[in-house]
Amino acid sequence: MGLSAAKTAELLEKVRVATRGNPQEIARQHQRQKLTARERIDRLTDPGSFTELDLFVRPAGGGRDAGAWGDGVVTGYATIEGRPVCLYAQDFTVQGGSLGRAHAGKIAKVMDLAVENGVPLIGLIDSGGARIQEGLGHYGLIFYRNVRTSGVVPQLSLILGPCAGGAVYSPALGDFILMVQGISRMFITGPQVIKAVTGEETTTEKLGGAQVQCATSGVAHFLLPDEESCFQTTRRLLAFLPANSNEMPPCKHTRDGADRRTEEIEEIVPDDQQQAYDMREVIRVLVDEGDFLEVQELYARNIICAFARLAGRPVGIIANQPKFLAGCIDINAADKAARFIRFCDAFNLPILNLVDCPGYLPGVAQEHGGIIRHGAKMIYAYAEATVPRISVVLRKVYGGAMSGMAVSKYMGTDFSLALPTAEMAIMGPEAAVNVLYRDELARAADAEGLRRQKIKEYRERFANP
Ligand code: HXC
Repeated sequence: MGLSAAKTAELLEKVRVATRGNPQEIARQHQRQKLTARERIDRLTDPGSFTELDLFVRPAGGGRDAGAWGDGVVTGYATIEGRPVCLYAQDFTVQGGSLGRAHAGKIAKVMDLAVENGVPLIGLIDSGGARIQEGLGHYGLIFYRNVRTSGVVPQLSLILGPCAGGAVYSPALGDFILMVQGISRMFITGPQVIKAVTGEETTTEKLGGAQVQCATSGVAHFLLPDEESCFQTTRRLLAFLPANSNEMPPCKHTRDGADRRTEEIEEIVPDDQQQAYDMREVIRVLVDEGDFLEVQELYARNIICAFARLAGRPVGIIANQPKFLAGCIDINAADKAARFIRFCDAFNLPILNLVDCPGYLPGVAQEHGGIIRHGAKMIYAYAEATVPRISVVLRKVYGGAMSGMAVSKYMGTDFSLALPTAEMAIMGPEAAVNVLYRDELARAADAEGLRRQKIKEYRERFANP
């Protein structure tokens, strides 16, 4: 055996040792119903496509696993459905995936690589937070890059275990958070600290489990039953997105051409303004092959934000959902939509507004909660967007929703369309008549008859497209 062969064999042995992990810790990880960092990368990416970086980096501080190569995070690049991505996967089997200086440096490096190469960044997170033995401050390396990277390449965070303390802000600064039922937890302070400070009793699941963060807080965007579905949804999501803000989203061949008729919508949207229906049925009919991916499906359900394709091209859909709060815009819906609109604008996804909206949700709680401040974010996002924008009024749009849902051409909307049955006015006919004819109605012998007649007149004269 020549010298170079001996060196190669030595290196390969080092790689074997560095990548095999601690069998006891791996067994503990599996007992927690979790995959290891390397198993996760294998299942998420195309077979054999992963190239690891910085395998031989060692922890900067002490700690039980001071000898562990890689410092508790696996970083590198790979392809997903043939398209390159940069990624990192925290390794909970090494000091609980906690973030020390070398660990943070590896993540920062792969983040820089994602930006330099214009490819999405994916974080697989499973970590006890800042490494207790190594001091603080290293999250700054990551947060700074999350912000500078925002709008340049898509940033996805898959929460596949704990994500506690400062660790939560990197996912929150990115674009999409995916959580898995039963194993994902996100919180700034855990149950023990909460008990000590406020006296409240809770568990990590109740505090920051996947269901809570997807449905109650709106922190996370996708709730998945297991890790495999989480990887599947990640792949599906990426398929709608360009690799970076200078590229167009990828087109997909479809049988559903641009001239396809969608008459079923007449059956789905009721004439009666008060009757609820499921806007998702309209979306299903409208988009290519009925395929769309809802973002924050469980949060602020009165507005739908979804990725879909029209004639093969990805678009972002923002749609009122009459099934919830009659499709009104409230604080949470405005926040949800504003964020989604800004993402679509950054990544060249045309915006389609499907409008059926009585306006902003009235109420003291909404006003005191700052609906003005939150609603403004949504209007700002629409007015700021430079991607193509089309609004379609399906049944009604009143008052502030005319601008709030960007129906008004003065909002910079490229095209506004309306079904012939749509009602469009400053306010609903009933409310308008009560204001305009208050005195006549008070004096009239048959006030109800007069009201009905005036409502009909108002509908015909003003409240139509
Ligand atoms: C060092 C850590 C660690 C940490 C976990 N471990 N978190 N080591 N620093 N932050 C180690 C544990 O000691 C343990 O080592 C191993 O990882 C596995 O942890 P377990 O506790 O056995 O696992 P589990 O029961 O699943 O609980 C996971 C956990 C818990 C919920 C994450 O470990 C935990 O509460 N850890 C501390 C979380 C925390 O307070 N982090 C600091 C947040 S402050 P052994 O040797 O026993 O196997 C923060 C501020 C940043 O992040 C601010 C930036 C702006």
